[in-house]
Amino acid sequence: APLYAVVPAAGVGKRMGADRPKQYLLLNDRTILSHTLSVLLSHPRIHQVIVALGPEDGYFDSLEEASHPRLIRVDGGRERSDSVRLALAAIEDKAAWALVHDAARPCLHHDDIDRLLAFPGDQGAILASPVRDTMKRAGADGTIDHTVPREALWHALTPQLFPAEALHQALVRGEQAGAVITDEASAMEREGWHPALVAGRPDNIKITHPDDLRLAQLYLASREAQ
Ligand code: CTP
Ligand code: MG
Repeated sequence: APLYAVVPAAGVGKRMGADRPKQYLLLNDRTILSHTLSVLLSHPRIHQVIVALGPEDGYFDSLEEASHPRLIRVDGGRERSDSVRLALAAIEDKAAWALVHDAARPCLHHDDIDRLLAFPGDQGAILASPVRDTMKRAGADGTIDHTVPREALWHALTPQLFPAEALHQALVRGEQAGAVITDEASAMEREGWHPALVAGRPDNIKITHPDDLRLAQLYLASREAQ
């Protein structure tokens, strides 16, 4: 079945607090979104990349990847899940699979994509990383109520991989139900799916706050030096 990459890139980057949406900040010599798109467009298994952009995006057209023949752009929506849903609606092939990846994770490697594509089972899969720190549940007064066993806890990353049609339906139903959907897997979990957790590389960080830019710069520079 054909594989599409879906890239939600319609956020405003409120927590970054920059003069433009964070996906258009420079990391080394290219924008964050340009790094992300080029990793996906250069992967041999990915058929097309669908990017969801903000309604007033004035930056995308100046990216090198904007005119790539296998790139499709659509308008995003109010929440990340709306942007993903609108991008999935552009896929006509009912047998397609969708690999959804945040624009704000430019340090993705092809070997992470390869490991995800080799996922076990038939319930879809997400990249994730085991929680490393001891986890505490806070009580109402801000003191520790108890320690949460961390053995079963993972951070959800992207990409996340699902049959495109099933994911689209799950997002539509999740939104109709007013559910909070922060990643693709949470929409599928509501429908009774049990996606696989595939351990991802620790450098696949999401750029959220200004400090994350320096870390991502280091990761990208060390990759180019290899
Ligand atoms: N995103 C999107 N559509 C939205 C909101 C977010 O496509 N309505 C995208 C962002 O562009 C980003 C990814 O979803 O690539 C992850 O979201 P996040 O890191 O929260 O980015 P922002 O929403 O832009 O940042 P903030 O929450 O700080 O405003
Ligand atoms: Mg956000």
